[in-house]
Amino acid sequence: MKILLTGGAGFIGSAVIRHVIDDTWHSVVNVDKLTYAGNLASLGEVSDSSRYAFEQVDICDADALRGVFERHRPDAVMHLAAESHVDRSIHGPADFIQTNLVGTGVLLEVARSYFETLTEEGRQAFRFHHVSTDEVYGDLEGPGGLFTESTPYAPSSPYSASKAGSDHLVRAWHRTFGLPVLVTNCSNNYGPYHFPEKLIPLMILNARAGKPLPVYGDGSQVRDWLYVEDHARALITVLESGVIGETYNIGGHNEHRNLDVVERICALLEELAPEHPVGVASYADLITYVKDRPGHDLRYAIDAGKISRELGWQPRETFDSGLRKTVQWYLENESWIEGVTSGSYREWTTHHYGSN
Ligand code: NAD
Ligand code: TYD
Repeated sequence: MKILLTGGAGFIGSAVIRHVIDDTWHSVVNVDKLTYAGNLASLGEVSDSSRYAFEQVDICDADALRGVFERHRPDAVMHLAAESHVDRSIHGPADFIQTNLVGTGVLLEVARSYFETLTEEGRQAFRFHHVSTDEVYGDLEGPGGLFTESTPYAPSSPYSASKAGSDHLVRAWHRTFGLPVLVTNCSNNYGPYHFPEKLIPLMILNARAGKPLPVYGDGSQVRDWLYVEDHARALITVLESGVIGETYNIGGHNEHRNLDVVERICALLEELAPEHPVGVASYADLITYVKDRPGHDLRYAIDAGKISRELGWQPRETFDSGLRKTVQWYLENESWIEGVTSGSYREWTTHHYGSN
């Protein structure tokens, strides 16, 4: 299969591309605008493959997208490009509406026109796989209950509302125009190459730098964590074997309170990086309670039974094994971190691909 994948320079997209090149015979065209979150250094190992191509394109640009479809003639689309950070969506929702809603609408229209040019055989095989989040379901109160594929949508943040809207667009293009879509909604991912604005990498890097570890509110909110490579395998499983028009929830059955996650990171650092920054007696001393996020969702938890029963996917990492690997990766990959924290990867990108 030749997969046109949007957002492949991001955290999850780059994990999917690494998985495709390393573990399958598919080829992949990475369509990415390279926003602040897009970093081609995350693809270093695989970008020399003859099965990989890169196109620096904004998904809101219909003409440029049409050119990509015509040049590469993909068999499937995996749509991951998005603005993805809840806090940024609170400070500036416009980019989220533009990329997540308008961009998804533009991509659907270009994909539909392309789909209509395919042979009968090409149309039978074609898939449009939309990658979304469990945050579209809103939050769960108290410790009971799980999000299933039929939980009503009740998004809380501009991010989750824009993703919810994009899910509705994708389903409408299936129902109205017959585009063969697949939708997946996944819980919080963590792992290597995660941009350090999100909880886990931010805490690891701040702790190593001797900076405060900012826990929002009282840290009692619960997230359901999935190791990013498990998500990448789940996405390819759904693309290859999912039933057209169906939704699959993906999660790791790893629910943890934010404060517990931060404390576990501190404990792992005590073991793996025992030399503390100057003036720090223990990493946990850096934990600082800060003002809560407006509209902060209390608890997310996924029932991943459907994908397990119907497609045989199971996560391979436990939270203990995945978090240990993640902390270790951040301790061993200083050049990637240095590029991200100094912003030099963006200068490199501008130098090679022009500004965006
Ligand atoms: P990310 O922010 O790390 O990466 C997003 C990528 O999209 C970047 O490479 C960026 O350059 C690109 N992009 C942004 N706007 C674009 C545009 N207009 N045109 C082309 N490219 C553009 O995000 P991520 O964490 O890898 O998430 C990927 C997808 O998975 C998103 O759709 C997100 O909603 C979904 N998701 C994320 C999580 C999570 O925990 N991170 C969980 C479930 C679902
Ligand atoms: P985040 O990684 O931004 O993912 P999401 O908001 O999509 O779940 O945040 C995960 C949780 O951690 C969320 O409940 C907010 C909290 N959080 C903090 O307490 N401090 C921080 O500095 C950040 C970034 C997040």
